[in-house]
Amino acid sequence: MSLSILVTGGAGYIGSHTVLQLLLGGYKVVVVDSLENSSQISLERVRQLAQDHAPKLSFRKFDLRDRPALEKLFASEKFDAVVHFAGLKAVGESVQKPLMYYDNNLIGLIALLEVMAAHGSTVYGWPKVVPCNEESPICALNPYGRTKLFGEEMCCDVYKSNSTWKIILLRYFNPVGAHPSGAIGDDPRGIPNNLMPFVQQVAVGRRHALTLYGTDYGTKDGTGVRDYIHVVDLADGHIAALNKLSDPSVGCEVYNLGTGKGTSVLEMVAAFEKASGKKIPLVMAGRRPGDAEVVYASTEKAERELNWKAKYGIDEICRDQWNWANKNPYGYEPRVSTD
Ligand code: UD1
Repeated sequence: MSLSILVTGGAGYIGSHTVLQLLLGGYKVVVVDSLENSSQISLERVRQLAQDHAPKLSFRKFDLRDRPALEKLFASEKFDAVVHFAGLKAVGESVQKPLMYYDNNLIGLIALLEVMAAHGSTVYGWPKVVPCNEESPICALNPYGRTKLFGEEMCCDVYKSNSTWKIILLRYFNPVGAHPSGAIGDDPRGIPNNLMPFVQQVAVGRRHALTLYGTDYGTKDGTGVRDYIHVVDLADGHIAALNKLSDPSVGCEVYNLGTGKGTSVLEMVAAFEKASGKKIPLVMAGRRPGDAEVVYASTEKAERELNWKAKYGIDEICRDQWNWANKNPYGYEPRVSTD
């Protein structure tokens, strides 16, 4: 009988790609998503891509802070593991509305952990932090970052209080790209905060130019360097983490999911222009507050202990990002523009 996995935030960008890989891997998946920041169409697309595995996917629309709904779900279904993605993730918005972020991300997580504890369930994956290894000191520069940090600390404390928990904390670097089919991908609402969704909107004519946040860094071309990881590789990293849970040695573990390679903003733009055949006009601007110069992962621990390694590079990332953009220039559903 296949293992049953609860995926919170499963209709979102990383969630939908992970749900697909889980279904293809033979798991049964229940998605809980408030659809606050995502579209249910992503799950319809996942069903199409999963073909024969599609009947193993079910969806419940509610917010994790809705205790009665969460209790009811756990009372009616037994889960072998939980993968938690649900949360808000816009840095700027988190500075403007810190309490909304603490409420959504931390109260949601507390509700989940409590209901899991009451029903004897297990896991968890939580998003991040040159090369950064899992022991590098972490600090957060904004409320969103702090919800990730506190989320990790809360999970570690829960494990310390009861060592029957098995918890894996996944620190993502920069998830980009889309499923090679072009059927699912990133579809942020409003003005994209992140580089690649912005680049893709310039390429399809929704925005005039990409603003370069800083051209005076001490990097090869002056722009910031990041570790861009293909979202399908990232999704597979979650499957590897789930497999690891059957290892009796697992208690509460942290793993980086990155590629170990640093790429500058200008290198990313050049790779995207090559993949799409589109010119991306650039506007130079000052540094974005809170941005680091260079961030990339140390991938050794995940390679060694999860037996997982990213397969795709920036050319495949840009090919798939463009394929998704070209097929879905306005994302899953044309919305009335609010920006
Ligand atoms: C950002 C968040 C991080 C979050 C991650 C994924 C900040 C400070 N960090 O990471 O907390 O986990 O997104 O949601 O916001 N860039 C431009 N022009 C743009 C957008 C970005 O030049 O319009 C540059 C940035 O300066 C940076 C690089 O592109 O050098 C990547 O930026 P982004 O995609 O926003 O990711 P991070 O800043 O690494």
